[in-house]
Amino acid sequence: MIPKIIQLPKIYDKRGNLSFFEHPNQLPFKIKRTYWLYDVPGGEQRGSHAFKEQQEFIIALSGSFDVIIHDGQEEKSFSLNRSYYGLYIPKMYWRRLENFSTNSLALIVSDRLYDENDYIRDFEEFKTLAHGN
Ligand code: TYD
Repeated sequence: MIPKIIQLPKIYDKRGNLSFFEHPNQLPFKIKRTYWLYDVPGGEQRGSHAFKEQQEFIIALSGSFDVIIHDGQEEKSFSLNRSYYGLYIPKMYWRRLENFSTNSLALIVSDRLYDENDYIRDFEEFKTLAHGN
């Protein structure tokens, strides 16, 4: 699997719209953990790392930001700015989040519990491991 934008259902309603995701209909993995990034100061970056095993799905629930993905050879940028789609990231992709708008809210769901041992925080190490795949 490769990183991809997943469109979510959008239930239009004049009382306010509603979107959702569930496994397996929209999401290719079962959720084990949910976290979110908020109050990000202008110009800051988050999440410059890769995961050995963890997959994740990132949505801009509010505002906008960019997710920069690196597969060990090339970089690709995704702009997230709507709450009815998100970016699926398989394991073994370097990713960073940047260009956060004021009051943006990044929701991230993952198929693993938090495990520092699953992180690759050194880009050179990541490239070596990615090329070995
Ligand atoms: P981290 O994923 O390293 O964020 P970033 O790459 O943007 O710096 O998370 C920062 C810290 O938060 C990390 O050192 C441990 C803690 N943390 C948890 O305890 N549980 C979690 O689910 C997450 C995502 C982070």
